[in-house]
Amino acid sequence: MSRTLFDPITLRDLTVRNRVWVPPMCQYMVEKTDGVVAPWHLMHYGSFARGGAGAVIVEATGVVPEGRISPQDLGLWNDAQRDALRGVVDLVHSLGAAAGIQLAHAGRKASTYSEWGNAAPGTSIPVADGGWETVGPSDLPFGDLAAPRALDATGIDGVIEAFVAAARRAVEAGMDMIEIHGAHGYLIHEFLSPLSNVRTDEYGGSLENRARLLLGIVDAVRGSIPEGMPLLVRLSATDWVEDGLHVEDTVRVAGWLREHGVDMVDISSGGNSPEAQIPVGPGYQTPLATAVKQGAGIPVSAVGMIDEPWQAEQITATGLADVVRVGREFLRDPSFAIRAALALRVAEPPIPTPYLRAYRQQL
Ligand code: FNR
Repeated sequence: MSRTLFDPITLRDLTVRNRVWVPPMCQYMVEKTDGVVAPWHLMHYGSFARGGAGAVIVEATGVVPEGRISPQDLGLWNDAQRDALRGVVDLVHSLGAAAGIQLAHAGRKASTYSEWGNAAPGTSIPVADGGWETVGPSDLPFGDLAAPRALDATGIDGVIEAFVAAARRAVEAGMDMIEIHGAHGYLIHEFLSPLSNVRTDEYGGSLENRARLLLGIVDAVRGSIPEGMPLLVRLSATDWVEDGLHVEDTVRVAGWLREHGVDMVDISSGGNSPEAQIPVGPGYQTPLATAVKQGAGIPVSAVGMIDEPWQAEQITATGLADVVRVGREFLRDPSFAIRAALALRVAEPPIPTPYLRAYRQQL
């Protein structure tokens, strides 16, 4: 019987060894609030590559200081951050995996206390305690967070320039692919969603207008990274709220992304409304990924509680998605991809040579 999960996949000039990828997962482990990778990040990203993942996508990385979710986020607005990031890329490459990075601006959900070591994680940090003024498409707050300042045209141009500068630095750091964070209620998603965007200029109103920031970033980034380098976008396919973004909207947006040179979209959901009713369960976002793949004719990755080898294999084998991303299961077991390859009895499981002896009974 043939298997698909461990078939290589090619996007532009990049061939990735298999279709089990690690999605971006914020660690909030920057040590001096300077956005620079710490030893933790090397261990974290290296462990997934060592464990057989095809590609490892580095966590949401702020393109500007005010675009960070918390002061402990990674950043890529200066050369010191770029130089430290090279260590992660080289390590991941040495272990046979491809390296990507998610470039992000947290918009109205920025400037919050991180999950670890804070009394009130996820709440706004006052300026007096090291927080900063947040920005968004409109001055509507998310839940109990501080209300953002609505960006003006100059501010929007500045955001686009910051994504370009960060993308250039990611290329200089050796990244194989760039992902733009357009999901989870952060700035780009805030523009896309009618829940958070009530602008009356060319960036608000119709879906075309609400997608203008995303497409502006895509065009500018696409034009400044190598032709052969894949560009990915992560989207929240639905807000899970009646008046919000729906999968039909996301199919249209994904079609535009394909026309603008995006090579793959990753389909997540939610994050832009505390009112969302999310039917969380095994593979709960995969139908959304399939709808976007079929409706927009663009390669997709599926993510969200894909925790079992045969579950992942079924998704790629039946064409529901081109790639699966496995998040928390890789945190629980950084060797998930090796375990999956053994369960699926693929011919050459991605086991590092020095560890082969540990698997002799199973080969
Ligand atoms: C996440 N997630 C996430 N998503 C994203 O786009 N950028 C990010 O930086 C983060 N950060 C993050 C941190 C941690 C600790 C977790 C658990 C999750 C969401 C993540 O990429 C993924 O979409 C979800 O975890 C769902 O997939 P799993 O975990 O069910 O496989």
